[in-house]
Amino acid sequence: MTIDAIIVAAGRGERAGGGIPKQFRSLASRSVLARTLDALAGHAAIRRVVVVVNPQDTDHVEAVRGETARSFTTVPGGATRTDSVRAGLAALADDAPDAVMIHDAARPFLSSALIDRLAEALDRHAAVIPALPATDALMRVMTDGTIVEPVDRAVVRAAQTPQAFRFDTLSAAYARLGGGGLADDAAVILAAGGQVHTVEGEAENFKLTMPADFRRAEAMLMGETI
Ligand code: CTP
Ligand code: MG
Repeated sequence: MTIDAIIVAAGRGERAGGGIPKQFRSLASRSVLARTLDALAGHAAIRRVVVVVNPQDTDHVEAVRGETARSFTTVPGGATRTDSVRAGLAALADDAPDAVMIHDAARPFLSSALIDRLAEALDRHAAVIPALPATDALMRVMTDGTIVEPVDRAVVRAAQTPQAFRFDTLSAAYARLGGGGLADDAAVILAAGGQVHTVEGEAENFKLTMPADFRRAEAMLMGETI
């Protein structure tokens, strides 16, 4: 089975702050995107990688090219993550793979074992994502934060990326999707009436979202336990 990958890296990283989009920030002297690229493009199951970027970030992208031996092509992204994935899928359509893994640039710590798990599950499922059980107690709330009721932890999972799909299945789901952005690609499949399977995610594969996530990442790379 041929598997290509799309790394979505066109976001602005507003919540992380830091002056430049988070995927171009350095963690222990190496950019987040170079780390993400090495993890995905370096895996034997992945044929080629398209990185979706904002044209404003051309200089940052060139700097990443100097940091990694991995080859990748770039395409311009859109206003939402959904638009950016759509642009990545269009770039692969000419020489379409059997399957595609869509990954957030902001998750540099995915393991090769996770990619193995997803690739293996693609033999049996058209859509599969890594997911983790919730550890905290969960509450359904009103918009003002008042609790409505507890939510049973057994029936929820936290969704991660890479999310893996048969290429035709994901392309068809995107073709059916109207305007408006969805949180991830699993949501696009569900909106089209499809089924999404889960495999075990990884705590280390957290998304760099807030400033504290960068502190956690630095500490991890320094071999500290936090
Ligand atoms: N992304 C993208 N195109 C967009 C928005 C997001 O390619 N228009 C990518 C981001 O670069 C990131 C991933 O989608 O790798 C997950 O999104 P998120 O963590 O929300 O990143 P940002 O949108 O950049 O951050 P923020 O929401 O804090 O601005
Ligand atoms: Mg965002």
